[in-house]
Amino acid sequence: MAAACEWLRGRLPWPNNAERTSAASFSKSSALELLKTSSADRYTKERSSIVVIGLNVHTAPVEIREKLAIPEAQWSQAIGELCALNHIEEAAVLSTCNRMEIYLVALSQHRGVKEVTEWMSKLSGVPVSELSKHRFLLYNKDATQHLFEVAAGLDSLVLGEGQILAQVKHVVKVGQGVPGFDRKISGLFKHAITVGKRVRTETNIASGSVSVSSAAVELALMKLPEHSYATARVLVIGAGKMGKLVIKHLVAKGCREMVVVNRSEDRVSALRVEFKDVEIIYKSFSDMQASAGEADVIFTCTASETPLFLKEHILQTACVYNVDDLKEVVAANKEDRLRKAMEAQTIIIEELNKFEAWKDSLETVPTIKKFRAYAERIRASEVDKCLSKMGDDISKKQQKAIYDLSMGIVNKLLHGPMQHLRCDGSDNRPLSEILENMNAINRMFDLETDISMLEEKIRAKMERSQN
Ligand SMILES: NC(=O)c1ccc[n+]([C@@H]2O[C@H](COP(=O)([O-])OP(=O)(O)OC[C@H]3O[C@@H](n4cnc5c(N)ncnc54)[C@H](OP(=O)(O)O)[C@@H]3O)[C@@H](O)[C@H]2O)c1
Repeated sequence: MAAACEWLRGRLPWPNNAERTSAASFSKSSALELLKTSSADRYTKERSSIVVIGLNVHTAPVEIREKLAIPEAQWSQAIGELCALNHIEEAAVLSTCNRMEIYLVALSQHRGVKEVTEWMSKLSGVPVSELSKHRFLLYNKDATQHLFEVAAGLDSLVLGEGQILAQVKHVVKVGQGVPGFDRKISGLFKHAITVGKRVRTETNIASGSVSVSSAAVELALMKLPEHSYATARVLVIGAGKMGKLVIKHLVAKGCREMVVVNRSEDRVSALRVEFKDVEIIYKSFSDMQASAGEADVIFTCTASETPLFLKEHILQTACVYNVDDLKEVVAANKEDRLRKAMEAQTIIIEELNKFEAWKDSLETVPTIKKFRAYAERIRASEVDKCLSKMGDDISKKQQKAIYDLSMGIVNKLLHGPMQHLRCDGSDNRPLSEILENMNAINRMFDLETDISMLEEKIRAKMERSQN
């Protein structure tokens, strides 16, 4: 056996519900302390931030990433637990074999990061000190730019690979309707998809050999003594999307015969139909050992959560490679990578500015809500006063006429100012003007002295946790 290429490995089991509940609730008690020490007032000056806490192929080895990985079936639960933390408003999980990144809208950057790091440590069993060594942190514009680069395939080991965009799309699909995958975070991910699509269609990034699978095929080829698949005996374990891509690249490199091990034969039969010119021999898992003994190159690419192929399954002379070893292949075309990355950056910066403008426009939403509530309080109290002066002689119809009159006056008076606070793309008002209007209305009607948004949010979280 000349080379074995194990580039995808199993995941650690996800903790049970009891363990997870205790992990999520460990910091709730501090909310009360927070309010008691009146620090809420300080927070009101702080705008909520977009934060990414991540470990990826550039910062952490596959062994650590595996421990942190969150299976797709648990993403919604993870979002719920993250948003139950005191300083986290919104969240999303991007967990692939190259990266485990948590995107957040945090009420306080420092406290939010601390809470989430402790949450990650508790779930994975990786101590905070170890996690901090491999973790990267980015805030606001930098966090947004990072996700845009990820979606565009610029941060991938194999520059421009398309799978990551599909994975970003999947985060949005799974997040739809999940409380906590709210406006800012879903807006961020949807915008990242737009960026990924633009970069793929408007630049050359997607041209050439661009997938993790093709890099794996390339790496194994480099290790084969004859540098050829024409005579090599190849075994592929797993016949899903990745298995199919491996086979596609093997065929392109001249491989004409291969053994495919999979649980069900159906998928392998479908591959035979697709790749008519090559001989694909199906074997079940019970034949895996024997097939491995006869192979020169083995690719393992199943989605099994426990490793199926262990070190003791292969000969001592075999070399084992994982996804991190693909760096060797990728380093070969550094100049090409740099050129393509520069083309994509222009689009990324353009879209980054659009997203920032949209995010800033959301700043006016609390003012709109507070201004409406302020007007409504005055309207309701004046109507009450008027009705009590009129006594019991007034009919239901007259009561309704008074109510309608009050609503009509308030709505007409609010219409103009509200138009100058909205930023929904329906007019050409510049964002700077809208933000000036917002500040003026806050000042004129003293809206900022209302109970702070943050205080309200912390109170709501405390009430939820007490229930
Ligand atoms: N899709 C991507 O973009 C991408 C990119 C890089 C890496 N990866 C990683 O590559 C792996 C495979 O991804 P994929 O997209 O090919 O998945 P997929 O299309 O869902 O295929 C999954 C494959 O794994 C097999 N499998 C699943 N659980 C198994 C188990 N317990 N025992 C034995 N076989 C099992 C399936 O066999 P059956 O046909 O019998 O069900 C199938 O062959 C995943 O770990 C994924 O994280 C995926």
